[in-house]
Amino acid sequence: MTLIALLPGDGIGPEVIAEARRVLEALDLGLVFEKAPVGGAAYRAAGHPLPPATLDLARRAEAILFGAVGDPECDRLERALRPEQAILGLRKELGLFANLRPARLFPGLEDASALKPEVAGAIDMVIVRELNGDVYFGEKGMRTTAGGLREGYDLMSYNEAEVRRIAHAGFRTAEARRGRLCSVDKANVLETSQLWRDVVIEVSAEYPDIELTHMYVDNAAMQLVRNPGQFDVIVTGNLFGDILSDQASMCAGSIGMLPSAALNAEAKGLYEPIHGSAPDIAGQGRANPCATILSAAMMLRHTLDRAEAADRIENAVTAALKAGARTPDLGGTLSTAAMGEAVLARL
Ligand code: NAD
Ligand code: IPM
Ligand code: MN
Repeated sequence: MTLIALLPGDGIGPEVIAEARRVLEALDLGLVFEKAPVGGAAYRAAGHPLPPATLDLARRAEAILFGAVGDPECDRLERALRPEQAILGLRKELGLFANLRPARLFPGLEDASALKPEVAGAIDMVIVRELNGDVYFGEKGMRTTAGGLREGYDLMSYNEAEVRRIAHAGFRTAEARRGRLCSVDKANVLETSQLWRDVVIEVSAEYPDIELTHMYVDNAAMQLVRNPGQFDVIVTGNLFGDILSDQASMCAGSIGMLPSAALNAEAKGLYEPIHGSAPDIAGQGRANPCATILSAAMMLRHTLDRAEAADRIENAVTAALKAGARTPDLGGTLSTAAMGEAVLARL
Protein backbone atom coordinates (compact mmCIF):
# COMPACT_ATOMS: atom_id res chain seq x y z
CA MET A 1 0.00 0.00 0.00
CA THR A 2 1.35 3.38 -1.02
CA LEU A 3 -0.23 6.36 0.70
CA ILE A 4 -0.60 9.52 -1.39
CA ALA A 5 -1.62 12.77 0.29
CA LEU A 6 -4.04 14.65 -1.94
CA LEU A 7 -4.11 18.37 -1.12
CA PRO A 8 -6.46 20.01 -3.66
CA GLY A 9 -6.50 23.50 -2.12
CA ASP A 10 -8.35 26.44 -3.64
CA GLY A 11 -9.77 27.71 -6.92
CA ILE A 12 -8.93 25.38 -9.79
CA GLY A 13 -6.84 23.19 -7.46
CA PRO A 14 -9.66 20.68 -6.79
CA GLU A 15 -10.62 20.66 -10.50
CA VAL A 16 -7.17 19.70 -11.75
CA ILE A 17 -6.44 17.30 -8.88
CA ALA A 18 -9.63 15.34 -9.72
CA GLU A 19 -8.29 14.66 -13.24
CA ALA A 20 -4.84 13.63 -12.02
CA ARG A 21 -6.44 11.26 -9.53
CA ARG A 22 -8.58 9.65 -12.24
CA VAL A 23 -5.48 9.06 -14.35
CA LEU A 24 -3.55 7.54 -11.43
CA GLU A 25 -6.50 5.33 -10.45
CA ALA A 26 -6.84 4.04 -14.00
CA LEU A 27 -3.27 2.72 -13.83
CA ASP A 28 -4.19 0.47 -10.90
CA LEU A 29 -0.90 0.97 -9.05
CA GLY A 30 -2.16 0.14 -5.57
CA LEU A 31 -2.10 3.77 -4.48
CA VAL A 32 -4.26 4.81 -1.54
CA PHE A 33 -5.39 8.43 -1.53
CA GLU A 34 -6.11 10.45 1.58
CA LYS A 35 -7.40 13.98 1.13
CA ALA A 36 -6.89 16.99 3.41
CA PRO A 37 -7.68 20.70 3.14
CA VAL A 38 -4.98 23.33 2.56
CA GLY A 39 -4.91 27.04 1.85
CA GLY A 40 -8.02 29.17 1.99
CA ALA A 41 -10.17 26.03 2.14
CA ALA A 42 -8.34 24.94 5.29
CA TYR A 43 -8.48 28.41 6.80
CA ARG A 44 -12.27 28.35 6.43
CA ALA A 45 -12.62 24.79 7.72
CA ALA A 46 -10.03 24.79 10.49
CA GLY A 47 -8.83 28.36 11.01
CA HIS A 48 -5.35 27.76 9.56
CA PRO A 49 -4.03 27.35 5.98
CA LEU A 50 -1.90 24.37 7.01
CA PRO A 51 -3.73 22.62 9.87
CA PRO A 52 -1.78 20.10 11.99
CA ALA A 53 -3.81 17.19 10.55
CA THR A 54 -2.86 18.19 7.00
CA LEU A 55 0.82 18.51 7.88
CA ASP A 56 0.64 15.16 9.64
CA LEU A 57 -0.84 13.52 6.55
CA ALA A 58 1.88 15.10 4.41
CA ARG A 59 4.51 13.62 6.72
CA ARG A 60 2.91 10.15 6.78
CA ALA A 61 2.35 9.91 3.04
CA GLU A 62 4.99 8.59 0.67
CA ALA A 63 4.29 11.46 -1.70
CA ILE A 64 2.09 14.54 -1.89
CA LEU A 65 0.01 15.66 -4.84
CA PHE A 66 -0.85 19.32 -4.42
CA GLY A 67 -3.30 21.44 -6.42
CA ALA A 68 -2.97 25.16 -5.73
CA VAL A 69 -3.66 27.63 -2.93
CA GLY A 70 -4.75 31.24 -3.06
CA ASP A 71 -7.99 33.05 -2.47
CA PRO A 72 -8.57 36.75 -3.12
CA GLU A 73 -10.83 36.91 -0.08
CA CYS A 74 -7.88 35.95 2.12
CA ASP A 75 -5.40 38.49 0.70
CA ARG A 76 -5.82 40.92 3.61
CA LEU A 77 -5.47 38.36 6.39
CA GLU A 78 -2.36 38.60 8.53
CA ARG A 79 0.39 36.94 6.53
CA ALA A 80 0.69 33.84 8.73
CA LEU A 81 -2.93 32.94 7.95
CA ARG A 82 -2.88 33.49 4.20
CA PRO A 83 -3.40 30.49 1.90
CA GLU A 84 0.10 30.79 0.40
CA GLN A 85 1.59 29.96 3.80
CA ALA A 86 0.38 26.40 3.28
CA ILE A 87 2.70 25.71 0.37
CA LEU A 88 5.56 27.69 1.92
CA GLY A 89 5.07 25.81 5.19
CA LEU A 90 5.04 22.40 3.53
CA ARG A 91 8.22 23.18 1.59
CA LYS A 92 9.97 24.33 4.76
CA GLU A 93 8.62 21.72 7.20
CA LEU A 94 9.44 18.82 4.90
CA GLY A 95 12.77 20.26 3.78
CA LEU A 96 11.68 20.28 0.12
CA PHE A 97 14.54 22.42 -1.17
CA ALA A 98 14.95 21.21 -4.75
CA ASN A 99 12.24 22.27 -7.16
CA LEU A 100 12.39 20.69 -10.61
CA ARG A 101 10.33 22.56 -13.19
CA PRO A 102 10.66 20.99 -16.64
CA ALA A 103 9.56 23.11 -19.60
CA ARG A 104 9.22 21.56 -23.02
CA LEU A 105 6.92 22.08 -25.93
CA PHE A 106 4.68 19.12 -26.68
CA PRO A 107 4.41 18.42 -30.42
CA GLY A 108 1.50 20.35 -31.88
CA LEU A 109 1.51 23.15 -29.31
CA GLU A 110 3.72 25.47 -31.40
CA ASP A 111 0.71 27.66 -32.16
CA ALA A 112 -0.11 28.01 -28.45
CA SER A 113 3.34 29.33 -27.53
CA ALA A 114 3.85 33.06 -27.28
CA LEU A 115 6.96 32.60 -29.43
CA LYS A 116 7.38 31.97 -33.15
CA PRO A 117 6.93 28.25 -33.85
CA GLU A 118 10.55 27.69 -34.87
CA VAL A 119 11.80 29.37 -31.68
CA ALA A 120 9.25 27.72 -29.39
CA GLY A 121 9.86 24.22 -30.74
CA ALA A 122 13.40 24.20 -29.35
CA ILE A 123 12.44 24.56 -25.69
CA ASP A 124 13.35 21.48 -23.64
CA MET A 125 14.81 22.48 -20.32
CA VAL A 126 14.56 22.05 -16.57
CA ILE A 127 14.62 24.91 -14.12
CA VAL A 128 16.08 23.75 -10.81
CA ARG A 129 14.79 26.28 -8.34
CA GLU A 130 15.92 26.54 -4.71
CA LEU A 131 12.86 26.42 -2.49
CA ASN A 132 13.83 26.83 1.18
CA GLY A 133 15.72 30.12 1.29
CA ASP A 134 16.22 33.50 -0.37
CA VAL A 135 14.05 36.56 0.15
CA TYR A 136 11.07 34.25 0.76
CA PHE A 137 12.25 33.17 4.21
CA GLY A 138 14.41 36.05 5.45
CA GLU A 139 13.35 38.45 8.15
CA LYS A 140 10.48 40.57 6.93
CA GLY A 141 8.27 43.26 8.32
CA MET A 142 6.83 46.72 8.19
CA ARG A 143 8.29 49.65 10.09
CA THR A 144 8.24 53.40 10.14
CA THR A 145 11.31 55.34 9.08
CA ALA A 146 12.74 58.21 11.08
CA GLY A 147 10.99 60.49 8.62
CA GLY A 148 7.64 58.86 9.39
CA LEU A 149 7.33 56.85 6.18
CA ARG A 150 5.97 53.31 6.13
CA GLU A 151 8.70 50.90 5.01
CA GLY A 152 8.41 47.20 4.12
CA TYR A 153 11.46 44.96 4.15
CA ASP A 154 12.35 41.37 3.27
CA LEU A 155 15.89 40.14 3.86
CA MET A 156 17.44 38.20 0.98
CA SER A 157 20.05 35.69 2.13
CA TYR A 158 21.59 32.31 1.34
CA ASN A 159 24.21 30.44 3.31
CA GLU A 160 26.78 28.29 1.55
CA ALA A 161 25.24 24.97 2.64
CA GLU A 162 21.93 25.95 1.08
CA VAL A 163 23.63 26.91 -2.17
CA ARG A 164 25.80 23.79 -2.20
CA ARG A 165 22.92 21.33 -1.95
CA ILE A 166 20.89 22.99 -4.72
CA ALA A 167 24.03 23.24 -6.86
CA HIS A 168 24.44 19.46 -6.53
CA ALA A 169 20.80 19.03 -7.55
CA GLY A 170 21.45 21.20 -10.60
CA PHE A 171 24.59 19.30 -11.63
CA ARG A 172 22.90 15.92 -11.16
CA THR A 173 19.92 17.02 -13.20
CA ALA A 174 22.30 18.13 -15.96
CA GLU A 175 24.15 14.78 -15.77
CA ALA A 176 20.90 12.97 -16.52
CA ARG A 177 20.22 15.27 -19.50
CA ARG A 178 22.43 17.03 -22.06
CA GLY A 179 25.22 17.89 -19.63
CA ARG A 180 24.85 21.68 -19.59
CA LEU A 181 24.12 23.76 -16.51
CA CYS A 182 23.47 27.49 -16.52
CA SER A 183 23.52 29.14 -13.09
CA VAL A 184 21.35 32.25 -13.02
CA ASP A 185 22.05 35.01 -10.49
CA LYS A 186 22.51 38.75 -10.06
CA ALA A 187 26.12 38.67 -8.86
CA ASN A 188 26.80 42.08 -10.39
CA VAL A 189 24.65 43.64 -7.69
CA LEU A 190 23.77 41.19 -4.89
CA GLU A 191 26.09 39.67 -2.26
CA THR A 192 23.66 36.73 -2.01
CA SER A 193 24.36 36.09 -5.68
CA GLN A 194 28.13 36.50 -5.34
CA LEU A 195 28.15 33.72 -2.76
CA TRP A 196 25.81 31.71 -4.98
CA ARG A 197 28.20 31.99 -7.93
CA ASP A 198 31.32 31.21 -5.84
CA VAL A 199 29.76 28.09 -4.33
CA VAL A 200 28.39 26.83 -7.66
CA ILE A 201 31.92 27.14 -9.09
CA GLU A 202 33.36 25.23 -6.10
CA VAL A 203 30.81 22.43 -6.53
CA SER A 204 31.53 22.26 -10.27
CA ALA A 205 34.93 20.68 -9.48
CA GLU A 206 33.01 17.50 -8.65
CA TYR A 207 31.31 17.49 -12.06
CA PRO A 208 34.10 17.85 -14.63
CA ASP A 209 31.89 16.56 -17.45
CA ILE A 210 29.21 19.20 -17.00
CA GLU A 211 29.56 22.44 -18.94
CA LEU A 212 28.84 25.24 -16.46
CA THR A 213 27.92 28.77 -17.50
CA HIS A 214 26.65 31.77 -15.54
CA MET A 215 24.06 34.30 -16.56
CA TYR A 216 22.56 37.36 -14.92
CA VAL A 217 18.85 36.97 -14.34
CA ASP A 218 17.82 39.96 -16.46
CA ASN A 219 19.73 38.55 -19.43
CA ALA A 220 18.28 35.10 -18.71
CA ALA A 221 14.74 36.49 -18.94
CA MET A 222 15.62 37.96 -22.32
CA GLN A 223 17.44 34.84 -23.59
CA LEU A 224 14.48 32.67 -22.58
CA VAL A 225 12.28 34.34 -25.18
CA ARG A 226 15.05 35.02 -27.71
CA ASN A 227 16.30 31.44 -27.89
CA PRO A 228 14.99 29.06 -25.22
CA GLY A 229 16.64 26.12 -26.99
CA GLN A 230 20.04 27.24 -25.68
CA PHE A 231 19.14 26.05 -22.17
CA ASP A 232 19.43 22.52 -20.85
CA VAL A 233 19.30 22.99 -17.07
CA ILE A 234 19.05 26.30 -15.20
CA VAL A 235 19.86 26.36 -11.49
CA THR A 236 18.73 29.44 -9.62
CA GLY A 237 17.38 30.88 -6.40
CA ASN A 238 13.86 30.86 -5.07
CA LEU A 239 12.63 34.21 -6.41
CA PHE A 240 14.37 34.16 -9.79
CA GLY A 241 13.22 30.57 -10.35
CA ASP A 242 9.64 31.47 -9.54
CA ILE A 243 9.59 34.22 -12.12
CA LEU A 244 11.56 32.46 -14.86
CA SER A 245 9.41 29.32 -14.66
CA ASP A 246 6.15 31.21 -15.29
CA GLN A 247 7.89 32.86 -18.23
CA ALA A 248 9.17 29.53 -19.56
CA SER A 249 5.63 28.15 -19.38
CA MET A 250 4.40 30.55 -22.03
CA CYS A 251 7.31 29.60 -24.28
CA ALA A 252 5.99 26.03 -23.97
CA GLY A 253 2.38 26.94 -24.72
CA SER A 254 0.63 27.59 -21.41
CA ILE A 255 1.12 27.85 -17.69
CA GLY A 256 -1.35 24.97 -17.59
CA MET A 257 1.32 22.66 -19.05
CA LEU A 258 4.17 22.91 -16.52
CA PRO A 259 4.46 20.31 -13.74
CA SER A 260 6.90 20.37 -10.85
CA ALA A 261 8.54 18.27 -8.18
CA ALA A 262 9.74 19.62 -4.84
CA LEU A 263 12.19 17.14 -3.35
CA ASN A 264 14.03 16.80 -0.05
CA ALA A 265 17.27 14.97 0.65
CA GLU A 266 15.43 11.62 0.88
CA ALA A 267 13.72 12.20 -2.49
CA LYS A 268 10.38 12.45 -0.76
CA GLY A 269 8.41 14.85 -2.83
CA LEU A 270 5.54 17.25 -3.19
CA TYR A 271 4.23 17.39 -6.74
CA GLU A 272 2.23 20.29 -8.09
CA PRO A 273 1.53 22.30 -11.22
CA ILE A 274 3.55 25.54 -11.25
CA HIS A 275 0.38 27.60 -11.66
CA GLY A 276 -1.83 28.98 -8.92
CA SER A 277 -5.50 28.79 -8.02
CA ALA A 278 -6.54 30.92 -11.04
CA PRO A 279 -9.52 32.66 -9.37
CA ASP A 280 -10.46 34.21 -12.73
CA ILE A 281 -11.46 30.82 -14.20
CA ALA A 282 -12.19 28.78 -11.05
CA GLY A 283 -15.44 26.82 -11.02
CA GLN A 284 -15.92 27.05 -14.78
CA GLY A 285 -14.30 23.80 -15.91
CA ARG A 286 -11.85 25.78 -18.03
CA ALA A 287 -8.59 24.86 -16.30
CA ASN A 288 -6.01 22.81 -18.13
CA PRO A 289 -5.33 19.72 -15.99
CA CYS A 290 -2.19 18.65 -17.93
CA ALA A 291 0.30 20.30 -15.55
CA THR A 292 -1.19 18.37 -12.65
CA ILE A 293 -1.46 15.11 -14.58
CA LEU A 294 2.20 15.53 -15.58
CA SER A 295 3.06 16.27 -11.94
CA ALA A 296 1.51 12.91 -11.04
CA ALA A 297 3.83 11.34 -13.63
CA MET A 298 6.81 13.06 -12.00
CA MET A 299 5.67 11.64 -8.65
CA LEU A 300 5.70 8.14 -10.08
CA ARG A 301 9.15 8.68 -11.56
CA HIS A 302 10.98 10.53 -8.78
CA THR A 303 9.50 9.23 -5.53
CA LEU A 304 7.62 6.00 -6.25
CA ASP A 305 10.11 4.42 -8.66
CA ARG A 306 7.43 3.60 -11.25
CA ALA A 307 9.09 4.94 -14.38
CA GLU A 308 7.01 2.79 -16.71
CA ALA A 309 3.75 4.15 -15.34
CA ALA A 310 5.17 7.67 -15.58
CA ASP A 311 6.01 7.04 -19.24
CA ARG A 312 2.47 5.85 -19.86
CA ILE A 313 1.00 9.07 -18.49
CA GLU A 314 3.41 11.30 -20.39
CA ASN A 315 2.80 9.38 -23.61
CA ALA A 316 -0.97 9.64 -23.12
CA VAL A 317 -0.74 13.42 -22.65
CA THR A 318 1.46 13.65 -25.76
CA ALA A 319 -1.01 11.57 -27.78
CA ALA A 320 -4.06 13.50 -26.58
CA LEU A 321 -2.45 16.81 -27.54
CA LYS A 322 -1.31 15.40 -30.88
CA ALA A 323 -4.91 14.39 -31.57
CA GLY A 324 -5.96 18.01 -31.01
CA ALA A 325 -7.31 17.85 -27.46
CA ARG A 326 -7.09 21.44 -26.15
CA THR A 327 -8.46 23.40 -23.22
CA PRO A 328 -9.14 27.14 -23.78
CA ASP A 329 -5.64 28.24 -22.64
CA LEU A 330 -4.29 26.20 -25.57
CA GLY A 331 -6.81 27.66 -28.00
CA GLY A 332 -9.34 24.84 -27.72
CA THR A 333 -12.78 24.28 -26.26
CA LEU A 334 -12.44 21.16 -24.08
CA SER A 335 -13.47 21.33 -20.44
CA THR A 336 -11.12 20.27 -17.67
CA ALA A 337 -12.90 16.92 -17.37
CA ALA A 338 -12.97 16.36 -21.14
CA MET A 339 -9.23 17.00 -21.30
CA GLY A 340 -8.76 14.48 -18.48
CA GLU A 341 -10.84 11.99 -20.46
CA ALA A 342 -8.80 12.60 -23.60
CA VAL A 343 -5.69 11.60 -21.63
CA LEU A 344 -7.42 8.64 -19.94
CA ALA A 345 -8.52 7.31 -23.32
CA ARG A 346 -4.88 7.09 -24.45
CA LEU A 347 -3.28 5.56 -21.36
P1 NAD B 1 -2.27 31.84 -11.48
O1 NAD B 1 -1.20 30.90 -11.93
O2 NAD B 1 -3.27 31.32 -10.55
O3 NAD B 1 -3.03 32.41 -12.78
C1 NAD B 1 -2.38 33.23 -13.74
C2 NAD B 1 -3.17 33.20 -15.05
O4 NAD B 1 -2.98 31.90 -15.67
C3 NAD B 1 -4.66 33.36 -14.86
O5 NAD B 1 -5.19 34.09 -15.93
C4 NAD B 1 -5.19 31.94 -14.89
O6 NAD B 1 -6.51 31.83 -15.34
C5 NAD B 1 -4.21 31.25 -15.83
N1 NAD B 1 -4.04 29.83 -15.46
C6 NAD B 1 -3.36 29.34 -14.41
N2 NAD B 1 -3.44 28.00 -14.38
C7 NAD B 1 -4.15 27.63 -15.43
C8 NAD B 1 -4.58 26.36 -15.94
N3 NAD B 1 -4.27 25.21 -15.34
N4 NAD B 1 -5.33 26.35 -17.06
C9 NAD B 1 -5.65 27.49 -17.70
N5 NAD B 1 -5.28 28.72 -17.27
C10 NAD B 1 -4.54 28.78 -16.15
O7 NAD B 1 -1.51 33.11 -10.86
P2 NAD B 1 -2.13 34.42 -10.13
O8 NAD B 1 -3.39 34.82 -10.80
O9 NAD B 1 -1.02 35.36 -10.03
O10 NAD B 1 -2.44 33.92 -8.64
C11 NAD B 1 -3.72 33.48 -8.22
C12 NAD B 1 -3.59 32.92 -6.81
O11 NAD B 1 -2.83 31.71 -6.83
C13 NAD B 1 -2.87 33.85 -5.84
O12 NAD B 1 -3.51 33.76 -4.60
C14 NAD B 1 -1.48 33.29 -5.77
O13 NAD B 1 -0.82 33.58 -4.54
C15 NAD B 1 -1.75 31.80 -5.90
N6 NAD B 1 -0.64 30.98 -6.41
C16 NAD B 1 -0.48 29.75 -5.83
C17 NAD B 1 0.47 28.87 -6.32
C18 NAD B 1 0.60 27.53 -5.69
O14 NAD B 1 -0.31 27.09 -5.01
N7 NAD B 1 1.71 26.82 -5.84
C19 NAD B 1 1.23 29.23 -7.43
C20 NAD B 1 1.03 30.49 -8.01
C21 NAD B 1 0.09 31.36 -7.50
C1 IPM C 1 4.76 28.95 -6.99
C2 IPM C 1 4.00 30.07 -6.32
C3 IPM C 1 4.43 30.22 -4.87
C4 IPM C 1 5.87 30.69 -4.87
C5 IPM C 1 3.57 31.17 -4.01
C6 IPM C 1 2.12 30.83 -4.07
C7 IPM C 1 4.02 31.16 -2.60
O1 IPM C 1 4.12 31.25 -7.05
O2 IPM C 1 4.72 27.81 -6.47
O3 IPM C 1 5.37 29.17 -8.03
O4 IPM C 1 6.15 31.90 -5.01
O5 IPM C 1 6.75 29.83 -4.73
MN1 MN D 1 5.02 30.95 -9.00
